[in-house]
Amino acid sequence: MKYLDKVKGFLDDTEAKKLSSLIGKTSSLGPALEIGTYCGKSAMIFSEVCHKNNSYIFTLDHHIGSEEHQVGEEYHDEELFDVRLNKFNSLPEFLKNIEKSPFSENIIPIIGDSVEVSKNWKIPLGLLFIDGGHSMKAAKNDFDYWSKHIVSGGILAIHDVFPNPKDGGRPPYEIFCIAKESNKFKEIELIKSLAVLEKV
Ligand SMILES: C[S@@+](CC[C@H](N)C(=O)[O-])C[C@H]1O[C@@H](n2cnc3c(N)ncnc32)[C@H](O)[C@@H]1O
Repeated sequence: MKYLDKVKGFLDDTEAKKLSSLIGKTSSLGPALEIGTYCGKSAMIFSEVCHKNNSYIFTLDHHIGSEEHQVGEEYHDEELFDVRLNKFNSLPEFLKNIEKSPFSENIIPIIGDSVEVSKNWKIPLGLLFIDGGHSMKAAKNDFDYWSKHIVSGGILAIHDVFPNPKDGGRPPYEIFCIAKESNKFKEIELIKSLAVLEKV
C-alpha cells in the first residue's frame, strides 16, 4: 500500500497480516484497541479491515515516546523531536499520516496515558493489542488495566515477545507468561514476536 511506504513504524508484515485477520474475525465481538500508536503505521494497516467490517480501531498513545525513544536511547528518531516543546512528540507525524489514509474514518485516536484512559474505559473489546511502553511497570500496567476489557472469546495480542532473552527485552514476554498463568487466557500462537492469546 503506497500510502504506507513512508510511515515510520515497527510492525513486521507477517505480524501485521495476522493482526488484521484477527481484528476481522473478532470485530463482531467488539472493536479493537491498540496501546502504542507511534506514527500510526499499525493503526493505518488495521483500519483497512475495520473499513470492510464497518468497525473501528481505537489507538492510544500519549505521544511522548517510550523509554527507548528518548534522546540518546536506541530507538530515538530526531525527526520526531519537537524543538518547540523540547521533547519527543509523535503526534504531528501521526496526524499528518492519517490524513493520507483512505480509511482514516475507521481510526479513533486517543491521546493520553494508558492507565489514565483505562480508568474511564467502558467499551468491551474484541481485541487488545499491547505495543506500548517496554518497561516492566508499563507492560504490567497495560496488561492489568486493559486485559479485563476483552470479552470472552476475544483476543489479547502482545508485541515484542521474545522467549529467548538474547533476542530482546523481557517485559512483554513476562506479561505473556502472567496472562497464561492467570488461566484467563490460553495461548493460540507465537508468530515472530507477536503473541496471540484468547480470553477464556
Ligand atoms: C513501539 S511504539 C508503537 C508502534 C506502533 N504500534 C507501530 O507498530 O507503528 C510504542 C508507543 O507506546 C507509547 N507509550 C509508551 N508508554 C505509554 C503509556 N503509558 N501510555 C500511552 N502510550 C504509551 C509510546 O509513546 C510509543 O509511541
